[in-house]
Amino acid sequence: MLIGTQTGNTETVAESVAQHLAQEGHSIHFVDLADAYPEILLEYNHLILATSTWGDGELPDNALDFFETFLTLAPELSHLQFAILALGDHTYDPYFCKAGEIFDTTLSRFGAQKAFSTYEIDAGPTREDIRGACYWSSQVCASFSGEPAPFG
Ligand SMILES: Cc1cc2nc3c(=O)[nH]c(=O)nc-3n(C[C@H](O)[C@H](O)[C@H](O)COP(=O)(O)O)c2cc1C
Repeated sequence: MLIGTQTGNTETVAESVAQHLAQEGHSIHFVDLADAYPEILLEYNHLILATSTWGDGELPDNALDFFETFLTLAPELSHLQFAILALGDHTYDPYFCKAGEIFDTTLSRFGAQKAFSTYEIDAGPTREDIRGACYWSSQVCASFSGEPAPFG
């Protein structure tokens, strides 16, 4: 899981999701985007990317360096299946959950395959949102195919 967050809401949801998936027996590597390099995407074949949106449809600050390097490296990601967990607020329409869309489009452009529809949280997260995200993440993992990671 890669986490883009500015004030911690996304991290809160993502932590619950990670805990939930661990209880289901999945092995999770949980990484703040501020600590991640795009090369990490070559080491895994399943990705849940969780991100909020800031400004008018912009990425959260902790994702900016990662994203810039990602565009420069333009890695070939045909091995990667992904799903997006996006937090936003409809009062920012037409930029609702735009950062999630940006990651979605860019991962797809580099060959990654979207495994499941995006889960959007509007102006939350409420407990119900978090429960929904956990349920969604189980469906995401069920939709991932079980091929081994390309580099072990
Ligand atoms: C200044 C500001 C700008 C925002 N811009 C957007 C936006 O363009 N689109 C959107 O969907 N949500 C926007 N939001 C809502 C945040 O994405 C939402 O509050 C989210 O839960 C923050 O998550 P985080 O704490 O993980 O960063 C904005 C919020 C603030 C305070």
